[in-house]
Amino acid sequence: MGDLEDKIGIVTGGGRGLGQACCDLIAREGGKVVVADINEEGGAETVGRVRDAGGEAMFVRTDVSKSEDVQAMVKAAVDTYGRIDFAINNAMIPPPFLPLADLSEDEWHRTIAVNLTGVFLCMKYEIQAMMKQGIGAIVNIGSGNEHGAAPGCAAYIAAKRGLLGLTAVATLDYGEHNIRVNAVGPGTMVTPAMREALEENAKHKEFLESLAPIKRFSDPHEVAEAAIWLCSDKASFVHGHALIADGGASAGKLMKPA
Ligand SMILES: NC(=O)c1ccc[n+]([C@@H]2O[C@H](COP(=O)([O-])OP(=O)(O)OC[C@H]3O[C@@H](n4cnc5c(N)ncnc54)[C@H](O)[C@@H]3O)[C@@H](O)[C@H]2O)c1
Repeated sequence: MGDLEDKIGIVTGGGRGLGQACCDLIAREGGKVVVADINEEGGAETVGRVRDAGGEAMFVRTDVSKSEDVQAMVKAAVDTYGRIDFAINNAMIPPPFLPLADLSEDEWHRTIAVNLTGVFLCMKYEIQAMMKQGIGAIVNIGSGNEHGAAPGCAAYIAAKRGLLGLTAVATLDYGEHNIRVNAVGPGTMVTPAMREALEENAKHKEFLESLAPIKRFSDPHEVAEAAIWLCSDKASFVHGHALIADGGASAGKLMKPA
């Protein structure tokens, strides 16, 4: 019996990268998954992978920065499967890698809309559904860099640090309602987004390569394992935790003088 046997989950940004890896593992663990993404092709691919693995999935086209899309996504999950046991809020747009003063106001607003407001909207409507059930688990995907900074990533890091704040406050608000809220902070994973970023930005690649004591980048499935565990009953007393899966990168940072 898998760790998520018959549980119903939502994965935003499930069309590729870490989100797709989470869907692979949900299928392995016996769960059913609603794949939410703006990328219809990727969403269909993920649904195909889950079904090929003997699991059950449906795709709901969702822009997490739009309230009406998020509400429809939650409604589709509840209408189809009757409840939402867990949700992994993972969708994001990557940073444009510009120093703060060169970042356009439009780029700032778009990054915050997807990477922070999107998480707020997902949590808001997922929690409303979970409150009706009296139980649930949410995992927000942050970044290993959220405890520090990365050059050229002002809006991205601001959003990821904000995500930690949302996670912490929801921990206080919903613990007594049996809704666990946690975050996962990935280090560098070889996903499509990261592959594109590394190809475009040699300076950023050099920065990331310098970080992790484990001298390699991760496969997204290695980080998905942490998210899946937090969603499962095995983590039943883990609440308000930011689990960093970064090959030790943040440990190195913490040991540097302030
Ligand atoms: N790749 C890394 O090294 C790394 C490092 C630290 C943190 N992270 C975090 O891990 C998570 C996954 O990253 P990834 O590398 O797999 O990214 P990715 O770009 O490969 O996947 C992100 C997915 O989000 C979707 N998406 C984008 N905007 C959306 C929107 N408005 N609504 C719904 N879906 C949307 C994309 O279509 C894509 O399928 C992100 O939260 C990211 O910040 C990644």
